[in-house]
Amino acid sequence: MIRTRIISTGSYVPESVITNHDLEKVVETSDEWIMERTGIRERRIADASQAASDLACEAAQKALKHAHLKPKDIDLVIVATCTPDMPFPSTACIVQDRLGIKHAAAFDINAACSGFVYGLHVANSLIKTGAHKRILLVGAEVLSRVTDWQDRTTCVLFGDGAGAVILEGTQEKRGIISTHIQSDGSLGDLIMLPGGGSRFSCSQESILKRLHFIKMKGNETFKVAVRTLAELAANTLEANRLDPSKLSLLIPHQANLRIIQATAKRLNLPDEKVFVNIEKYGNTSAASIPIALDEAVRAGRINDGDHILLEAFGGGLTWASALLRW
Ligand code: UT7
Repeated sequence: MIRTRIISTGSYVPESVITNHDLEKVVETSDEWIMERTGIRERRIADASQAASDLACEAAQKALKHAHLKPKDIDLVIVATCTPDMPFPSTACIVQDRLGIKHAAAFDINAACSGFVYGLHVANSLIKTGAHKRILLVGAEVLSRVTDWQDRTTCVLFGDGAGAVILEGTQEKRGIISTHIQSDGSLGDLIMLPGGGSRFSCSQESILKRLHFIKMKGNETFKVAVRTLAELAANTLEANRLDPSKLSLLIPHQANLRIIQATAKRLNLPDEKVFVNIEKYGNTSAASIPIALDEAVRAGRINDGDHILLEAFGGGLTWASALLRW
């Protein structure tokens, strides 16, 4: 049976750092509140010239280099993002052009913060059916452009960045074991970016109502996230008859340290089996898991044969998990 394997990873975060202390000068907040409630200390912010595709290209080039591959070796580009450069062309098409990936298809996926794991689900299926041989999957976000810097309940949470993986088929007993995706559109109003689409296109009114910024009912989202992610993680392992003690590393979406800790507690995982980098980057939506995965690889925290669990939760609402054998 052919399986899909991640053969390389790469990531990129912009240089500019905004600390909690910087935010104390912008809104009524404190480093203490942000650290205690979220685990975030600082986040990276793209410079004015950088859009999602710029961050995506940086991460993708590293993934190509780490795999010793050329752009021509890729036959599909998928970019998971909810902050695309523009509605169309897709960010994936822009990345394809910029990297010179000539004979390939390219499209975006929008499942907000779950986008990267949704992308793994799609890429896994396309490789297993033989439709594509080698896929570049990127999660890239410039959330700072849609962050309301007057709203203390959201502006302390988000950051910019990109992470990329390259996937191909393998006959070995490793790679993606299973992926699970789910949505509940009835809870769509918990996190949304109302403006800029065909419902509320850009107008004087949409600008005055600040509709082009993320709106989130944080506490309600938090409760659903804690419950959903703990169940998702446990169910994913159960579906594969893998005892949590056999898991080498949990790489969760980095939205809130308390949510991550709740999932780890449900699986009875010690701290060293949970990858956390939220203090450096905040919530980078679809980029958070591939950045964390790349950092875990570079830090030597993943070895051949390790079982790795990825899990994400975001706007839609959407949630998703993937169990891998490295
Ligand atoms: O990635 C997609 C999924 N997203 C998530 O999973 C995010 C989920 N939500 C969260 O992470 C948390 O709900 C937040 C970090 C957003 C908020 O934490 P919380 O513990 O749920 O706080 P809260 O919303 O219940 O607010 C508690 C208090 C409120 O004041 P009062 O009403 O008790 O007087 C807020 O006004 O904290 C206040 N507050 C702040 N205070 C200082 C809210 N934001 C801030 C702030 N600084 N930045």
